[in-house]
Amino acid sequence: TDPAIIRNFCIIAHIDHGKSTLADRMLQLTGVVQQRDMKAQYLDRMDIERERGITIKSQAVRIPWEVDGQAYCLNMIDTPGHVDFTYEVSRSLAACEGAILLVDAAQGIEAQTLANLYLAMENNLTIIPVLNKIDLPAAQPEKYAAELANLIGGKPEDVLMVSGKTGVGVEALLDQIVHELPAPQGDPDAPARAMIFDSVYDTYRGVVTYVRVVDGQLTPREKIQMMSTRAAHELLEIGVSSPEPTPSKGLGVGEVGYLITGVKDVRQSKVGDTVTGLHKPAKESLGGYEDAKPMVFSGLYPLDGTDYPVLRDALEKLMLNDAALVYEPETSAALGFGFRVGFLGLLHLEITRERLEREYNLDLISTAPNVEYEVTLEDKKIVHVTNPSEYPTGKIAEVREPMVSATILAPNDFVGAIMELCQSRRGILGGMDYLSEDRVEIRYRLPLAEIVFDFFDILKSKTRGYGSLDWKADGDQVADLVKVDIMLQGEQVDAFSAITHRDKAYSYGVMMTGKLRELIPRQQFEVPIQAAIGARIIARENIRAIRKDVLAKCYGGDITRKRKLLEKQKEGKKRMKMVGRVEVPQEAFIAALSSE
Ligand code: GTP
Repeated sequence: TDPAIIRNFCIIAHIDHGKSTLADRMLQLTGVVQQRDMKAQYLDRMDIERERGITIKSQAVRIPWEVDGQAYCLNMIDTPGHVDFTYEVSRSLAACEGAILLVDAAQGIEAQTLANLYLAMENNLTIIPVLNKIDLPAAQPEKYAAELANLIGGKPEDVLMVSGKTGVGVEALLDQIVHELPAPQGDPDAPARAMIFDSVYDTYRGVVTYVRVVDGQLTPREKIQMMSTRAAHELLEIGVSSPEPTPSKGLGVGEVGYLITGVKDVRQSKVGDTVTGLHKPAKESLGGYEDAKPMVFSGLYPLDGTDYPVLRDALEKLMLNDAALVYEPETSAALGFGFRVGFLGLLHLEITRERLEREYNLDLISTAPNVEYEVTLEDKKIVHVTNPSEYPTGKIAEVREPMVSATILAPNDFVGAIMELCQSRRGILGGMDYLSEDRVEIRYRLPLAEIVFDFFDILKSKTRGYGSLDWKADGDQVADLVKVDIMLQGEQVDAFSAITHRDKAYSYGVMMTGKLRELIPRQQFEVPIQAAIGARIIARENIRAIRKDVLAKCYGGDITRKRKLLEKQKEGKKRMKMVGRVEVPQEAFIAALSSE
C-alpha cells in the first residue's frame, strides 16, 4: 500500500468515555463488521474484558474509507484505558501519527484524558479533539469544547461532536482523520524496522504479534530478528486484521498488521521491541523499549494444598500471554506452598486472580498486596523485599520505597478534601492548575504503597464520584518503615506480617488483632493475639478459653451418635490450619486477608 493513503490513529479517552463504543460504530459504518456480527465492544476479546467493560489488550483493525473519490486505508489501534497498562498505551501511541482525544460531553476532561494526552504529545501525534455522547440530555458541549480547546490550543468550534451510540458525527470524524493526520513516512529501501505494539497468545496459532512497519518491508517466509534479544524467527504468516486476520504478501512502510512466527511465549515477542530482517538487519532499533516492571506483589496460595501443581501450570500458561506477570515459588508456614506474584497494579492482580479461579477452577487465598522495598543493611548489602515475611531483621541502615507522581482532577469544591487525603497519605504537593473556572488539576508526589490499594475508592467517595486519578512511577525515597508481625500464642503468623510506615504500624496492629479475635474460635486454652515490631508488643487481644466438650450433649447411651459427632469434629479439623497449638479456620485467613 502506498503510504500516502494510509492513516494510523488511535482513540485515547478516560475510562467509560465511550472509546469502545465509538470504535464499534466506526467498524460498522465502514462495513468492516456486518450488522449481524456486531456484538458490543467487538474489539475487546477476552470475556473478562467484556464483562468489566474495560480494554486490556490493544488490537489493530484496518478500515477502508473513501474521501472525494480517493480510497484510504485507516488503521485503528485500540489502546488499553487503565493506568496499570500505561506502558502498553504508550507503545500503541508510538505506532500512530494521530490520536482522537475523546471526551464525554457530560463529564469533561478527566485525569486519564490528560495522562493520555501528554503521552500522545510526547509521541508527537496530531490530536483531533472530539466530544462524545452528545445525545445525552446532560451533555454540555459548549462548556467542554471550550475546556478542550483551552487545553490543547485551538478554537472551540474545531472540536468535533459525535455520538458513538447513535452514530451522529462519526462519518465527519473519519473524513477529518484523512484530512488532518499526516501520512506515515519512512524509507522503503532501508533495512526493515517494525515496532511491536502488542503481542497476544493464541491457543491455536501461538503468539500473534502486532507491528507497525516504519522502514523497509517484511515478507512471509523471511527470517526476522528481535532487536532486543537478537533472537531469530521465521515469518510463518503476515497479514492485516480487518478485523479477522487476513494473510497478505507483506507489510510495507506505514502499514500495521500482525506476524506469526510460531513462538509460544509473549516474552519472545515483547511490546516495544523492534523487528528487523535477519539477513539485512537495521543498525539501530526504534527506541522506547522497556521491560515491564511489576509494582505490586501478592502471595497466591491454593485453598486446597493439593491444587499446588494446578496453580503452577496455570501461572505458566498465563505467563505465555502476559509479559508483565512475574512469579516465584514461596512457602508460608501458615498457608503452605504458593507463589509470590508481581503485577503492574491492583487491577492486573484482580484480573489475574479472576482468570486463575475461573479458567483453571482454582480457589485461591491471596495475601495482602504490597510494593517492593529496597532495604540497605548496615554492612551495605542491599535486599529487595517483595514479601513482608522476608524483611531483614536487625541492622538496617535505610529503607527506600517506590514513589509515584499523581494527577488528580476534580471540581474545585473538593480541593480541601483532596489535599487532606493526600496529606494523610504522606503526599507532597507538586502544583495545582485550573483547567477552567470550576475544575482543577492537583499534582502530588506520593508513596506507591499509599495510593495503589484503596486510595482511588476513597478519592471517589470524598469527591462524590467527580474526582479522577492517574499516576506514574517516579523513583523511590527513604522512608521510616517497620515490619509489623502478628503472633498467636507467641507464634508468628507469616501471612499477616506487613511493612508499614512507623506512624501507621499501631493502627495496623490494632486492626489485625481485633479482626483475628473475631475470626478465630475459642480454643481449649487462652490464646493471646499480639502485634509486634521486633520484640516490642504494640497491640494485644485475647481469646478466652472454652472447654469444647462435644460429647457432653449425648446423655450416655447412644454410641453410634457419639461416634458420628467425633467424626464430624474431625472433618471440621481438616479445614483448620495449625499455628503452633492454635487451630485457625481457613475462613479466618481469607477474611483477615481480604481488605474490608
Ligand atoms: P474502556 O474500554 O473501559 O476504556 O471504556 P470505553 O471508553 O471504551 O467506554 P465504552 O465504550 O464501554 O462506553 C462506556 C459507557 O458509555 C457504556 O455504557 C456505553 O453504552 C456508553 N456510551 C458510549 N458512547 C455513548 C454515546 O455516544 N452516547 C451515550 N448516551 N452513551 C454512550
